[in-house]
Amino acid sequence: MSTQAEETKTETASKMIPIYIMGKQYEVPDSLTIMKAIEYAGYKYIRGCGCRGGVCGACATVYRKPGEYKIRTGLACQTVVEPEMYLTQLPFYPANRATYDFEALEGTPEEVFSLYPELFRCVACNACTKVCPMDVEVMDFIAAVKRGDLAEAARISFDCIQCGLCASRCMGELPQYHIGQLARRITGRYLTPAAEHLKTMVANIEAGRFSKGLEELKASDEDTLKKVYTEREMEPATAGEDWTPKEAAYL
Ligand code: FES
Repeated sequence: MSTQAEETKTETASKMIPIYIMGKQYEVPDSLTIMKAIEYAGYKYIRGCGCRGGVCGACATVYRKPGEYKIRTGLACQTVVEPEMYLTQLPFYPANRATYDFEALEGTPEEVFSLYPELFRCVACNACTKVCPMDVEVMDFIAAVKRGDLAEAARISFDCIQCGLCASRCMGELPQYHIGQLARRITGRYLTPAAEHLKTMVANIEAGRFSKGLEELKASDEDTLKKVYTEREMEPATAGEDWTPKEAAYL
């Protein structure tokens, strides 16, 4: 069955429901995500449509359901439409983002305090955590930064996808997602022990160990590339830690 026929079948099997996109009513199949419903309604994503897989944060959406005082949030690519929902998207939130020369930083908590002094305006209301579509404990990582524990802040904020919804609800005007990102950068660069095998691999790259193989791939036609890809030696699902491929030229 063609993709179009499959889509038509899905739409036929779905019930049509009314939703409101930026205040205007549309009838859409109830099986669609908000992102697909917006497209179904005739809107076209020209830029900022993002990954469509719940990892890039480009599709932050706020919506309200009938009879509720509460604003809800979600990722348009992951959230399924509901009858009578009023929604709009926040593809970008104009939160303060400090500029810094990362190479010039020493990776201390004090540097984060001075780049983001608004950290200390947090009143621990936890609104940021409640709106996070990734269930990140946002207030907790901000508290960790305030304590100077950047590694803990990096750990707690690891699933952040930089959608900015936390900042949109913050009464202290904190840009939580930018602060978490800086904590993760500092942790990766200064607080985590360097991986020795990575150093070896970088040295191998710089010594040109993979150059010949890459040049061969770049010179290959599409059929050859497909053959190389499908016939490549793969690690069996049940392989143990000591598994190594037979072809070790590029290890
Ligand atoms: S489009 Fe990337 S998270 Fe939704």
